[in-house]
Amino acid sequence: MPKLIVTTREGETSEIAVEDGLTVMEAIRDNGFDELLALCGGCCSCATCHVHVDPAFTDKLPAMSEDEDDLLESSDHRVETSRLSCQIPFTGDLDGLKVTIAPED
Ligand code: FES
Repeated sequence: MPKLIVTTREGETSEIAVEDGLTVMEAIRDNGFDELLALCGGCCSCATCHVHVDPAFTDKLPAMSEDEDDLLESSDHRVETSRLSCQIPFTGDLDGLKVTIAPED
């Protein structure tokens, strides 16, 4: 299974194996990272699944929708590599993807 590497707000890094068909948000949440609240359950309306993505993977990510862009704009912690993790389906292409959970707004 492809691997996802997650760094928490405290700076702890772990590697998780991700089943087919999950989004990055679901993979993180289902592996017990409680600090990723994902309050809206993945329908792109809460921004509590905000992550910073390793720039090496920028080109492999799906394009950002206007809704995602607007929600990220409301975050004080938006950076160049910010994404909402519920908007990234985790595919084999993203094997080794590194994300850091963004600070809470
Ligand atoms: S889980 Fe709410 S926007 Fe991603």
